[in-house]
Amino acid sequence: MLQVGRLKKLHFLYNCGLLLIVTYLVACNNSEVKTIQPKTDYIHEIPGKNDTIPVAIAQKGEVLIAYSDCYTCHKEEKRSVGPAFKDIAKRYPVQRVYIDMLAQKVISGGKGAWGSATMIDHPKVPIEEAKLMVSYILSLK
Ligand code: HEC
Repeated sequence: MLQVGRLKKLHFLYNCGLLLIVTYLVACNNSEVKTIQPKTDYIHEIPGKNDTIPVAIAQKGEVLIAYSDCYTCHKEEKRSVGPAFKDIAKRYPVQRVYIDMLAQKVISGGKGAWGSATMIDHPKVPIEEAKLMVSYILSLK
């Protein structure tokens, strides 16, 4: 019995060690990202009036996004491979020109507006659906 107890204890300690190493690695990675990509001047807010987005439109966009691959690179609140959806909403006023431009960008992909990471193209997404997706993103103001 004593032996089993000791083994369990060792196992527990071993797991704690692993956890510490993983936590350490995650913490280090985070601080690295922070030093490489300072947040200052990242959003470049464009001034302009905001049109209203009907709730039904935003909801359709939200569903389309959930069924597409967007969340592999985007998060709502935090920057990931791509900018946070809330940061995109902060930059662009809700206006047709921006919705059209961003919808086109979702379809053709690209980089440079937020940094050097590239958004893949989405040639199979119809323009009307891309506009709904962008409307949802801009509704997150
Ligand atoms: C492979 C990763 C990836 C996927 C998948 C992805 N994005 Fe992006 N997205 C990015 C990156 C990276 C940027 C920043 C591009 C830049 O700096 O110009 C971006 C930028 C954007 C922008 C802002 C464009 C601009 O010019 O300001 C919108 C809107 C957007 N994504 C929507 C979407 C939607 C909707 C989907 C799903 C259909 C999607 N993204 C899927 C990586 C991705």
